[in-house]
Amino acid sequence: MQIHRIRQLFEQSPVDQRIAVCGWVRTRRDAKGGFSFIELNDGSCLKNLQVIADEKLPNYESEVKKLGTGASVRIEGTVVQSQGKEQAIEVRAESVQVYGGSPEDYPLQKKRHGFDYLRTIAHLRPRTNTFGAVTRIRHTLAMAVHDFFRARGFFYVHTPIITALDCEGAGEMFQVTTLDLDKPPRTPEGKIDYERDFFGKRTALTVSGQLEGEIYAMALGNIYTFGPTFRAENSNTTRHLAEFWMIEPEMAFADLEHNAYIAEEFLKHVIRAVLESCGEDLNLLDQFVQKGLKASLEHIVAAPFARMTYTEAIDVLQKSGQTFEFKPEWGQSLQTEHERYLTEVHLKKPVILTDYPKDFTAFYMRLNDDGKTVRNMDVLVPQIGEIIGGSQREERYDVLLRRMQEGGLNPEDYAFYVDLRKYGTAPHAGFGLGFERLVLLCTGMGNIRDVIPFPRTPGHADF
Ligand code: 4AD
Ligand code: MG
Repeated sequence: MQIHRIRQLFEQSPVDQRIAVCGWVRTRRDAKGGFSFIELNDGSCLKNLQVIADEKLPNYESEVKKLGTGASVRIEGTVVQSQGKEQAIEVRAESVQVYGGSPEDYPLQKKRHGFDYLRTIAHLRPRTNTFGAVTRIRHTLAMAVHDFFRARGFFYVHTPIITALDCEGAGEMFQVTTLDLDKPPRTPEGKIDYERDFFGKRTALTVSGQLEGEIYAMALGNIYTFGPTFRAENSNTTRHLAEFWMIEPEMAFADLEHNAYIAEEFLKHVIRAVLESCGEDLNLLDQFVQKGLKASLEHIVAAPFARMTYTEAIDVLQKSGQTFEFKPEWGQSLQTEHERYLTEVHLKKPVILTDYPKDFTAFYMRLNDDGKTVRNMDVLVPQIGEIIGGSQREERYDVLLRRMQEGGLNPEDYAFYVDLRKYGTAPHAGFGLGFERLVLLCTGMGNIRDVIPFPRTPGHADF
């Protein structure tokens, strides 16, 4: 018999039909009249299916009455209208096949566990209501990302994971090597001889697919990447991971205005997808994780984002009368406390901040005519701060070379990138959305370690 998913059963209510379901027991309760209630979950949705197992089942005493939380079973039986008001349907079991029992030391007993503890059992936490909900929302977001770009004719491009280039120029890369670290080969000057490393040069895990994305945008027009990126920054915060997923669209013949427009449409599209198809999971998170989550997401999609330049933002911060840990000053980068003040207190909605000082921004951002600021943007959202970073790219050969030299980069290392400015250069722009920050926003979870299945952070690479 074909196995039904519990979600399907609730959607279709096939009363009087014989069906089979498989899943994990959440609870078992033995009733007086000679039967037991089994709450079964198969991950397809938040709700459990109630199964009624009668004492006449041949394995009732030997197996059914011993079923513990976490055990896995296959049930065959008939769907009936439920007597209880908790659920519309339930299943009367005609057979209960036990695949795997689960002894009493199963760590997920029926009580609420702290997220810190659940992180230590990341192999079992997807079986909890919260992590099931987060996982289904994460999936919905990923599919919505592809839907958004496909509908607009963007091509999905796969950029490399191993690279020799530091896209952000921040020196936060994880080195990739097969050299024997105890006795690496040396050059005559005593330096490590990377010519004898696997790739014949020094390589690392990518921090961004942008530079390669630009190559494809300058041939196919509009492209996007969606892949893992790695940053060896020693940030122990609730918003930083050492391994995270990033979506990076890149658009030829686009300026910053268009970039900002697409970023806003994109964010709203993926949030709407969650509001439309994850109602049950959102309700759970709204009730137990972040009160008002649904209303805050509806608020984000309902109105235009605010726009402000960095210079205007500094002015607002200085006149705010707030005491910040870091004093807001023109020329300094914005701290999370500043970003949150702008979105949560001052504007009470997302804001697209543009035109930051060139001195702490990346070499590829297009220089403005003032010579001091660049054509970049950060999209900031309440609770989280920066969720998107992007820019119009420097398409002028000479200006790019000058910016690289000022930043201490060797243009020869970026020869292909410079070449794009030599052969058919054109205005273009793009941005990067941190996927886990988006999942944080849409789930109301407080810690980025709890929205990726297996988080990598300083000191932690378990599972
Ligand atoms: O602002 P970032 O560093 O921009 C880039 O990497 C550009 N190359 C993007 C582009 O223009 N194509 O990173 C982009 C986004 C940030 O806004 C943030 O959401 C996320 O990536 N991000 C992180 N997410 C989790 N953990 C980290 N350590 C992150 N660092 C950046
Ligand atoms: Mg950034």
